[in-house]
Amino acid sequence: MKENISIDLKNTEKFISCEETYALAQKSVIHLDSLNNGTGAGNDFLGWLSLPDDIHPTVSKLEKCAKHLRNISDTTVVVGIGGSYLGSKAIIEALSHSFSPLLQKKHHDVLFAGHNLCEDYISDLLELLYERNYSIIVISKSGTTTEPAIVFRILKEHLERRVGKAQAADRIIAVTDSSKGALRSLSELYGYDTFDIPDNIGGRYSVLSPVGLLPVAVSGLDISALVKGAKAFEDISRRNKKALTNPSLIYAAARNLLLQQGRSIEILAGFTPKLHYLAEWWKQLYGESEGKEGKGIFPASVDFTTDLHSLGQYIQEGQRLMFETILSVKNPTKTLTIPSETDDSDKLNFLAGKRVSEVNRCAETGTILAHNDGDVPVLRIDVPVLNEFYIGQLIYFFELACAISGYILDVNPFDQPGVEAYKNNMFALLNKPGYEEKGKLLQEKMKK
Ligand code: PA5
Repeated sequence: MKENISIDLKNTEKFISCEETYALAQKSVIHLDSLNNGTGAGNDFLGWLSLPDDIHPTVSKLEKCAKHLRNISDTTVVVGIGGSYLGSKAIIEALSHSFSPLLQKKHHDVLFAGHNLCEDYISDLLELLYERNYSIIVISKSGTTTEPAIVFRILKEHLERRVGKAQAADRIIAVTDSSKGALRSLSELYGYDTFDIPDNIGGRYSVLSPVGLLPVAVSGLDISALVKGAKAFEDISRRNKKALTNPSLIYAAARNLLLQQGRSIEILAGFTPKLHYLAEWWKQLYGESEGKEGKGIFPASVDFTTDLHSLGQYIQEGQRLMFETILSVKNPTKTLTIPSETDDSDKLNFLAGKRVSEVNRCAETGTILAHNDGDVPVLRIDVPVLNEFYIGQLIYFFELACAISGYILDVNPFDQPGVEAYKNNMFALLNKPGYEEKGKLLQEKMKK
């Protein structure tokens, strides 16, 4: 039988007992029921729960489209922000060659844009694209988000100038709402191929829809295996009411108990840079789902061992506000041993013959023990290996746990009313029609 990702509570026991964690996890089965029965807050956004099955018929269409983009271009620019960007970025970073854009051998580069408004970043991208034969995937559920809309306008114009309008239309794929929004109308006007984002799936829960899967397929990764992994985790968790064997229930319970003890910051840590963007995706998922009504755990992240040489000091000895969740990958996919040296001038011969991963494992164990001694509760999530299957599992694990955790906190984990505040100010400052009154108020506020 295939191993699954699992959760280890050993290093939280000084702070919360396993009994109380399991008790809250068991009590939280009511939230699992609310999700499955669609009776909880935000119940019109539960489409992600059955995505591993529902996406099945679309997988081959996505693969076909990806193949087309790989055939006609050497680079694809993915335009999107938030949930329309972080999931695919996380998977591609976790599973691709660490230096893929620099490799000489032929491969397809996936680049990202539309997740910032930095003029220099966008200009640099355009400079690079002059040297590339590229296509574009533009992703926006609302179809009206400012950052990707501006960047898409710029890139579309650039591509049309390079290859002509007809050719450009063949190289642009839009992923958006099936009927609403500017991106939908624009796609119809210009004749772009499109994939739909189901109405009942919010941005940050959309990674297993075409939003995440199309860019991942274009990068050359196996999206069927990813979906299989998610499905395998759905099978062991979604309807599993025995809390003891349901990692999503346990994780949701443990983090809420730690919050109740004043641990209001959760630091997600991995011992591989490949997980950097998975943590970014996780931060959006948990930050937007829980941070409302004055509640929630602030999601932060670090990359170890790199950050043991910077934030490690604070985690060890600073204010005791946080707990850590370690993403522990059991097996690397490649093999590298430390060589022996005859003169041992660097005094490292005691490590000769050991794999780098053995040293990394000792760094991980040493860190967990040290942080625990420094009064930091540490949860550990064990991932057998970084591949499509287990990233699929991890995605479903975190999504389900997030929804349960939001319900434990008594918030709606599927809305994000707070993200409108900056947008309204920005539109007012840009004199967008309809924002005149707000604009005046802001000008007065700034004069004070
Ligand atoms: O989770 C969310 O809903 C948001 O973070 C969105 O993903 C983000 O704002 C992008 O929205 P859209 O896909 O509509 O452009």
